[in-house]
Amino acid sequence: MVLRVRSPKILSPAIIIALATTAVSLTGCAATDPMNALQPLGEVARMEVNLFNLIFAIAVVVFVFVEGLLIYAVVRYRQRPNDGMPHQTHGHTTLEIIWTVIPAAILIALAVPTVTTIASATAIPTGPDVINVKVVGHQWWWEFDYPGLGVVTSDELHIPTGARVELDVESADVIHSFWVPQLGGKVQAIPNQHNHSWIEADQAGTYHGQCYQLCGSSHANMRFIVVAQSKADFDKWVQDQKSVPAKPTDPEALKGYQIFTTNACVGCHTIEGTPAQAKIGPNLTHIGSHLTLAGATLQNNPNDLALWLHDPPGVKPGSIMPNLHLTNDQIQALSAYLESLK
Ligand code: CUA
Repeated sequence: MVLRVRSPKILSPAIIIALATTAVSLTGCAATDPMNALQPLGEVARMEVNLFNLIFAIAVVVFVFVEGLLIYAVVRYRQRPNDGMPHQTHGHTTLEIIWTVIPAAILIALAVPTVTTIASATAIPTGPDVINVKVVGHQWWWEFDYPGLGVVTSDELHIPTGARVELDVESADVIHSFWVPQLGGKVQAIPNQHNHSWIEADQAGTYHGQCYQLCGSSHANMRFIVVAQSKADFDKWVQDQKSVPAKPTDPEALKGYQIFTTNACVGCHTIEGTPAQAKIGPNLTHIGSHLTLAGATLQNNPNDLALWLHDPPGVKPGSIMPNLHLTNDQIQALSAYLESLK
């Protein structure tokens, strides 16, 4: 007697597909996802997505063909009652040539666009409108140095829309990786090595970046933003960044200035126009104008700044800036001073 077991309805193929689709749609592929590399908003990211789409399409064709053959073979040549030992064969020159030549042709078809895309994405752009930026990864923040413009900033890369921005990427300590999913990347930041790439943003906006190489306990907190703005806004930003802030006149900010310039702060940071000229931590000359703080993990407002000053390693585990055990009064004064540095 043959016992037939019906598969329960809950496992019908339609339900499995519906569940899988729901699961995929819940994993963050929303239309507004600011870190979605499949929604490119710049030339380099677009080249990378086009390459991805081509490879994906070829992979789908190969998958459907191979799985189709497999299913056909399983059904057509399944064992039937009274089947004996199947006919035994060894070697089939024609078939072996076919399944060697076709994969080789597919690999060549994939290699040509891959190599040309790599060459285009890493070519150093030239021309009068190109902006050059030296990108230095640090545990755990990004330094952006514009040698042609005399500007140094951190965790916030400003670029004019439509312009090619040349990136000369290296690291001050361990290996990091520079990546702005909607604009392009990833570029390894390696000590004593200069890797080149470039980005371009089609439209004004704020783009999110993230270190992509596991680089220590605050790797996940090593974020940054790219602010793409019109040429006029960018030029104004450059002028603002080049200005040297005056000594504060507000009493609270002046108290903060004195705390900053007579404590450990000066051992790590630079604020132009003050005795603080060290290069270990980020340059804070215009920190008040930044949109974010602490590797883009905090918003730049007095509350978040106080949170950071109160306990840096509590915000960013492993932070090289230690807890300086500042009093609430000192934090308030420092916060008033730093926020005044526009
Ligand atoms: Cu730097 Cu991960």
